[in-house]
Amino acid sequence: MPALVLLGAQWGDEGKGKATDLLGGSVDYVVRYQGGNNAGHTVVVGDQKYALHLLPSGILSPGCTPVIGNGVVVDPSVLFSELNGLNDRGVDTSKLLISGNAHVITPYNVTVDKVTERFLGKRKIGTTGRGIGPTYADKINRVGIRIQDLYDESILTQKVEAALDGKNQLLTKVFNRRAIEVEQVVEELLGYADKLKPYVADTVLVLNQALEQDKVVLFEGGQGTLLDIDHGTYPFVTSSNPTAGGACTGAGVGPTKISRVIGILKAYTTRVGSGPFPTELFDEDGEALRRIGGERGVTTGRDRRCGWFDAVIARYATRVNGLTDFFLTKLDVLTGWEQIPVCVAYEIDGKRVEELPYSQTDFHHAKPIYENLPGWSEDITKAKTFADLPKNAQDYVKALEEMSGAPISAIGVGPGRDETIEINSFL
Ligand code: GDP
Ligand code: IMO
Ligand code: MG
Repeated sequence: MPALVLLGAQWGDEGKGKATDLLGGSVDYVVRYQGGNNAGHTVVVGDQKYALHLLPSGILSPGCTPVIGNGVVVDPSVLFSELNGLNDRGVDTSKLLISGNAHVITPYNVTVDKVTERFLGKRKIGTTGRGIGPTYADKINRVGIRIQDLYDESILTQKVEAALDGKNQLLTKVFNRRAIEVEQVVEELLGYADKLKPYVADTVLVLNQALEQDKVVLFEGGQGTLLDIDHGTYPFVTSSNPTAGGACTGAGVGPTKISRVIGILKAYTTRVGSGPFPTELFDEDGEALRRIGGERGVTTGRDRRCGWFDAVIARYATRVNGLTDFFLTKLDVLTGWEQIPVCVAYEIDGKRVEELPYSQTDFHHAKPIYENLPGWSEDITKAKTFADLPKNAQDYVKALEEMSGAPISAIGVGPGRDETIEINSFL
């Protein structure tokens, strides 16, 4: 069973980086299939902490080939600063492969992201300001720039002209900004071409050949299910498909090849940016989750909004991704609460609702219905097996598993690689 997808089951920041790194030592390829440097994946190895944005977390495992798939959007300046940062710390990054079909985040995409948000004012999405949405918009509008375009100056110039035509009108006439010069953009992009060249590959062919040879391929999602452009809390979402199907389109691998889909699930809930969040807490419990869980954005440094676990969301993630397993993270953060509320259903306009409503208006009105589960006070960070957990922590995990609709195969009890309880092996 060679191909596994590992993705966020909530609104991102579930601990995907740690989970990917944990498996990285046993897999041959780790592939990012969507998103870009809006992601912030933390990996802790011994006393070393790494924050990865664009690079797959497998880059820290020497035996593993990291791949940036066609579905990813690549900001070359960020790519090189991330690679340099890792090289300075002694990490070998020479095996990296980047799809020639991946789209490039250009400086004008970053500008458009920022001015659009400013223009939206109170209705802003709260994006990471990294140019993600405008780059995917150009891709869908068929005026995007791909990595392969950097190797043909004439084509690149024509494409940048086409992309800037409408944007300069918008920037000067609507947003009151200066027009962006085609030549300047082309020059900057061409400046990356030679440095990128050693990494550019036909990643679809490489990955499919690897799968034919029974190599193990892990697809690492960015963001999370509820941030998915199709299945998330639109319009407060990102502009790609973090859900399982995105791994197929974003890497060029057929669904028949995927054998396991692992949802990374935090033992409580967090969200960054705007949008509905039924279990959000505005009291000292929310503050305590933020403090104990270290819930501050890896990419933008914003405080994360925090709330109790939401089983309606988890069930939804199981359904839209066809999850085979969950990896439950940050259970240790819940140590010390006497009672832990868990949202089992919503009340919407006086009615009990068990599943995520498809209507945005209903979701905005959803009030959580809580069940209180008994807490524990023992330190669980040294637990190595399920049996090492206190009875109430075991019962909390079992209750979440039952409500969420897929087995919990691993539990995180700390940020480090070895602070993990493995229940069923993923490989
Ligand atoms: P990602 O975007 O899904 O990779 O998650 P982030 O790295 O943005 O946020 C997860 C944070 O939780 C990071 O600081 C991790 O080091 C940390 N983390 C991951 N798993 C655990 C865990 O089981 N317990 C604790 N205490 N921290 C964890
Ligand atoms: P990881 O991979 C949490 C959120 C932003 C904003 C919305 C759209 O670390 O889990 P974008 O810049 O993508 O257009 O912003 O999506 N967002 C994330 N939230 N974790 C992430 O990544 C995120 N990437 C984007 O805060 O609400
Ligand atoms: Mg993150």
